[in-house]
Amino acid sequence: MMNLSTYKTANYKKLNEKGSFTFSAPSNIALVKYWGKKESQIPANPSLSFTLNHCKTMTTLTYETKDEKSISFDLLFEGQPKESFRPKIQKYFERIQDLCPYILDYHFTIDTQNTFPHSSGIASSASGMAALSANIIALERLVNPDQSEDYYEQKASLLARLGSGSACRSIKGNIVVWGETASIENSSDLFGVAFPYEVHSVFNNYQDTILLVDKGEKQVSSTVGHELMHHHPFAAKRFEQAHENIAKLKNILQSGDLEAFIALVESEALTLHAMMMTSMPYFMLMKPNTLEIINQIWKFRQETKVPVCFTLDAGANVHVLYPEKHKTEVQDFIQNELSKYCQNNQFIHDEMGFGVKEL
Ligand code: DP6
Repeated sequence: MMNLSTYKTANYKKLNEKGSFTFSAPSNIALVKYWGKKESQIPANPSLSFTLNHCKTMTTLTYETKDEKSISFDLLFEGQPKESFRPKIQKYFERIQDLCPYILDYHFTIDTQNTFPHSSGIASSASGMAALSANIIALERLVNPDQSEDYYEQKASLLARLGSGSACRSIKGNIVVWGETASIENSSDLFGVAFPYEVHSVFNNYQDTILLVDKGEKQVSSTVGHELMHHHPFAAKRFEQAHENIAKLKNILQSGDLEAFIALVESEALTLHAMMMTSMPYFMLMKPNTLEIINQIWKFRQETKVPVCFTLDAGANVHVLYPEKHKTEVQDFIQNELSKYCQNNQFIHDEMGFGVKEL
């Protein structure tokens, strides 16, 4: 088993030039949910996600050598200074500085852009932290060049995890598992791994349309939500269930049993929200239109037998999941029956993607 010290860079050189990289990283949607964590961003249970393709963050990192050792950076969002992101990035650099001491040699400029509308309510922390971490590892490739490809990929995911847990699943692979669990070989709490088994062709280019139900600020952040899983009356059972669901989903992904897929995915989504509703203090992130949409999906599925289902993240938005083969009929259904429940009738068609890319 890998331990954290494997990823601590001890020897590195100092670059004397100025340079930059640009990476894009996609968002991802969890099917088995990460909800609850221990110290240092270690998940309380394993999770599994589909990587997305169109909802992305693009980040340019410019580095410039300086004399004193310190964390030093400027932040731009779409070319403009963005001070409100500073605390999150400062914390990220503080968390990674032991593993990446070379970052203290440079002043960074971080320029970030999202492909999705800024206020869409789509969390950009997964794609954002993955894109930033891919850039840091590009720098590490220059200052500490003799490591294996696996090392750099695992470390990129590990750094992303320290920024935001779910971000570690946006580095590499179209299906990613994060969290050590018996049914997935080489799974780790430290980083995400690409699902290591063959996947049934029904899941090729699986579609995800994100229905933007509510774009307002959430009343309870994910950070606080995770926190409330400590002392939660159902936590132990829930964490156990996530391991069981990963094992079941592993078989489903191989067999292509969509009926079982739908049951597991929808149950995971509702379980996540059940955990929120049974926390103390309790809270609810679903909105009336979230429930309208869920009921419409159930009705459509019953009437048409089209294998479409939903999942939810930590908010009111609904992700509609369906095989590529049913793209036309499901997208018509979304346009005709579901868009009216979305804020400004807004939704985003996305599909499975592969992870970070250098631009
Ligand atoms: C409900 O990764 O946003 O989307 O580690 O505190 O940054 P932090 O939390 P975050 O939590 C995501 C929770 C979720 C489920 C999931 O993506 O697995």
